[in-house]
Amino acid sequence: MLNKHYFPPISDRQINILLIKDTPDIYHMAVSRCVEALSANEKEKYARFHFDKDRRLFLLSRVLLKYSLAAYLDRDPGDIALAVGTHGKPRLADKADVAFNLTHSHGVAALALGGADSVDIGIDIEWSEPHNDFLDMGFKYFSQDEYRLLKKCSPDQQQALFYRLWTLKEAYIKAIGKGLSIDLKSFAFQLSDDRISVNHLKNDVENKKVWQFLQARVYTRHMLALAIRTHAGPKDGYGIRAFEYSPGRPCKPFMLKAVASSR
Ligand SMILES: CC(C)(COP(=O)(O)OP(=O)(O)OC[C@H]1O[C@@H](n2cnc3c(N)ncnc32)[C@H](O)[C@@H]1OP(=O)(O)O)[C@@H](O)C(=O)NCCC(=O)NCCS
Repeated sequence: MLNKHYFPPISDRQINILLIKDTPDIYHMAVSRCVEALSANEKEKYARFHFDKDRRLFLLSRVLLKYSLAAYLDRDPGDIALAVGTHGKPRLADKADVAFNLTHSHGVAALALGGADSVDIGIDIEWSEPHNDFLDMGFKYFSQDEYRLLKKCSPDQQQALFYRLWTLKEAYIKAIGKGLSIDLKSFAFQLSDDRISVNHLKNDVENKKVWQFLQARVYTRHMLALAIRTHAGPKDGYGIRAFEYSPGRPCKPFMLKAVASSR
C-alpha cells in the first residue's frame, strides 16, 4: 500500500533525488510489501537474475521508481507503466512529459524526479574503487582535454577525478536520452574549483542549451552526478533536495555532500 504523504512534494521548480540502500531490513520490506506493484515482465526479470545482489537492487530500484512516481501522480504503484524511447530511455507510457531518471550501483539506487518545469534529467551513480587503468579508460572515453587533466593528476587524485568525469558524462548522455549513440569524446566537461560546465566541440546548437549540473558524494564511496535542463533558467530559483526512501516509512531528508555544481 502506498502512503503518498510519506513522499516529499515536488513543486514545479523542484527536483527531488530519492535514494534507496540495499540493507536486509529495507529489502525485506520491499519483498513483503511491494512486489505486487511490478508488472509481469518485471517479475519475470526479477526471478531471472543470476546474482542475488543484482536481483535485490533491481527490486529496490523498481520499487523506488514506481512508488515515487505513484505518489507524485496520485496513482496506484501498480498503475505506473513504463515505456522506452528510441535509445532506451525509460519514460511513463501514458505521460511522456514527466521528467525522471534512475541509476543504480553497488547496493544503492537513486531516482531524480522533476516538477513540471523540468525538461530533461539524467542521473548517474558509481561506486568508486581503485583501478590501475584509469588512464587507459580516460584515453578511451574522455575528450582530449579531459584526458589531459586526468594525466596531470597525482595517482591519489586520479581516482576522484575519473569518477567525477565519468558520472558527469553518463548523467549528461542519460539526460539527453540518446545513450551511447552520442560520441563521449564529442563534449568536454570543465571543472574549475567548485564549478561545472560542458562544451560541445563541434555542435553549436547543443552549446546554446542551458544545462545545470550537481555533483555529490553519497554514503561512503558513491559518486553521484545530476544533469538537468529546465524551462526556467538557472537563476529562477530551482530547488534540488535529496531524501532517503525505505518502503513503508516516510522519506528522510538526506544531506548531499556537494562536490561542485553549475549553479
Ligand atoms: C545504459 C546507460 C544509459 C547507463 O548505464 P549504466 O551507467 O551502466 O547504468 P545506470 O545504473 O546509471 O542506469 C541504468 C538505468 O538508466 C535508465 N536508462 C536506460 N537507458 C537509458 C538511456 N538511453 N537514457 C537514459 N536513461 C537510460 C534505466 O532506468 C536503467 O535502469 P534499468 O535498467 O534498471 O531500467 C548507458 O549510458 C551505458 O550503457 N553506458 C555504458 C558505460 C560507458 O561506456 N560509460 C562511459 C562513460 S565516460
